Amino acid sequence: MRIKDLVDYQKTYELSVQEPEKFWASIANEFEWSKPFTKVLDWDFNDYSVKWFEDGQLNITTNCLDRHLSSIPDQAAIIYEPNEPGDAAITLTYRELHARVCKISNVLKSQGVQKGDRVCIYMPMIPELAIAVLACARIGAIHSVVFGGFSAQSISDRINDSACKVILTTDGAVRGNKMIPMKETVDDAIALCPSVEKVIVKRRTNTPVSMLDGRDIWWDEAESEAADACEPAIMNSEDPLFILYTSGSTGKPKGVVHTCGGYMVYTAYTFENVFQYNPGEVYFCTADIGWITGHSYLVYGPLLNGAISVLFEGVPTYPDAGRFWDIIKRHQVNIFYTAPTAIRSLMGMGNEFVTNKDLSSLRVLGSVGEPLNEEAWHWYNDKVGHGNCPIVDTWWQTETGGHMISPIAGITPLKPAYATLPLPGVQPILVDENGKEIEGNGVNGNLCIKFPWPGIIRTTYGDHDRCKSTYFATYPGLYFTGDGCMRDEDGYYRITGRVDDVMNISGHRIGTAEVENAINMHTGVVESAVVGFPHDIKGQGIYAYVICEHLPENDSLMRKDILATVTRVIGPIAKPDKIQFVTGLPKTRSGKIMRRILRKVAEGEFGSLGDTSTLLDPGVVEAIISGAL
Ligand code: PRX
Repeated sequence: MRIKDLVDYQKTYELSVQEPEKFWASIANEFEWSKPFTKVLDWDFNDYSVKWFEDGQLNITTNCLDRHLSSIPDQAAIIYEPNEPGDAAITLTYRELHARVCKISNVLKSQGVQKGDRVCIYMPMIPELAIAVLACARIGAIHSVVFGGFSAQSISDRINDSACKVILTTDGAVRGNKMIPMKETVDDAIALCPSVEKVIVKRRTNTPVSMLDGRDIWWDEAESEAADACEPAIMNSEDPLFILYTSGSTGKPKGVVHTCGGYMVYTAYTFENVFQYNPGEVYFCTADIGWITGHSYLVYGPLLNGAISVLFEGVPTYPDAGRFWDIIKRHQVNIFYTAPTAIRSLMGMGNEFVTNKDLSSLRVLGSVGEPLNEEAWHWYNDKVGHGNCPIVDTWWQTETGGHMISPIAGITPLKPAYATLPLPGVQPILVDENGKEIEGNGVNGNLCIKFPWPGIIRTTYGDHDRCKSTYFATYPGLYFTGDGCMRDEDGYYRITGRVDDVMNISGHRIGTAEVENAINMHTGVVESAVVGFPHDIKGQGIYAYVICEHLPENDSLMRKDILATVTRVIGPIAKPDKIQFVTGLPKTRSGKIMRRILRKVAEGEFGSLGDTSTLLDPGVVEAIISGAL
């Protein structure tokens, strides 16, 4: 069901709104189901529940792998580009990937993993990470991938929340010129995780690691002994496929649950249409599989379409800021999908890294994760796309499973910094503070979605009430995205950023409360308040206001100590860019911190603080401003 032109998009969109069940059923029927579905959709946004293709049965890996064995067995499925540019790239064909996934499926089974068990995966960007994900899906185990940059504490929180039975990891990782311990971090993490029975360790760096007899096993040995065929588990469409933890405005990160049937249909459909993927094209998504972009558009979406997906282990600046462009040339990449923060940082390093590169293979460029500002859009368009490649600025979220508002490459007329128009099946609506619909064009509001799509979040693991209250209670009857949005005179959508207490740091979602909790764990800290502020490269930076028991004697050491605590509790991505020691925080009489004021101060806008009359002690604000100057 591929959209051919703008008129076709409009017709398809109309159909998807008027007859959503018919529309999605026809797409879903293009896949292999072990038992066809007869019911398409059952939903309720008030007492939240959504079920797609409910009585159908399938295995997503049959559709990612087995289905391609008769047509393209020897075509590349994954091209692994190692960290070192001098090391040979490794290609896994569909046949090879299938065999290796089957082997690891058998390894997992032999270690006692059964359908429905949770398996944590904490690995760097090597092919075995994709293999681990698919092996879980093949046997019906629910994978929970934890991004390789998270701390031991974060891993154990995630493992404990869903009681993972097994964890897969590596001895170490290499990123740029850094060596990073993985197994050691896992050892620290699982000291606090009673549910973990086995640790499976892939060798990557040959760093010495401790291997506990009876608990820890080597991946390579186990894989070499395993059979290369494994029958896929038959899953109900609504059985969970994976859990992925993401931050919200309050509390600990929550486990977003996606299910087998709907997620498959949605990621496959959006991948093919948004990128207008043609068979045989090489596609390169720079996201880590530890985030939703890697799940949906490095692993599942591309493989469901029989695509060739490049998996890059390193960083964009190693050995220099031309690495992405060298990879594009080396593998003749046609479609390139990255994040605004990467574009901005490469832009800042000078054009000499990009101008002399051969980027003639490129056909489509993509962006994801945060607003793509106009300056970066133009640089991407001119220097990388040479004005010939449409840029698809894809707006979506961990919870949406796949793209929601996005251009369709080469079809939707573009506007820099706009996500443009909703994809078929997506019904956006803007509402005001009171939940009243804001109609017409040339308006701003809170972005909600009023009708389910197959990739929508099903629940937050172990706590369905949290799912209901986070997404469906703010504006009853609507899914609330947490984003602010503008709809211009042409009906085009532009995402303006989060309207809740979630920050977007280099495209990573981090809750202010999470960082505050980590800072507050530091000895001598009484209280803290964290806000985001505009940052040239990262999009947003983290600004922390910290009250200590005694004003620190050595400010700079105390700052470093706090950063060390945040790194230990969450990971380096959550380290504040600025820490200001204060003696009080602006609070209302009811004790609520007025973050609006703190955000203004962090932005350096001291003159326009707005109404401060409800503050308990307005003097606090002056002290904060003089400390910030
Ligand atoms: O604020 C939006 C921003 O990223 C948030 C979702 O973050 P996460 O769940 O980590 O998923 C990121 C990858 C899909 C959104 O609520 N965001 C994502 N894409 C865009 C964006 N903001 C503006 N433009 C985008 N294209």
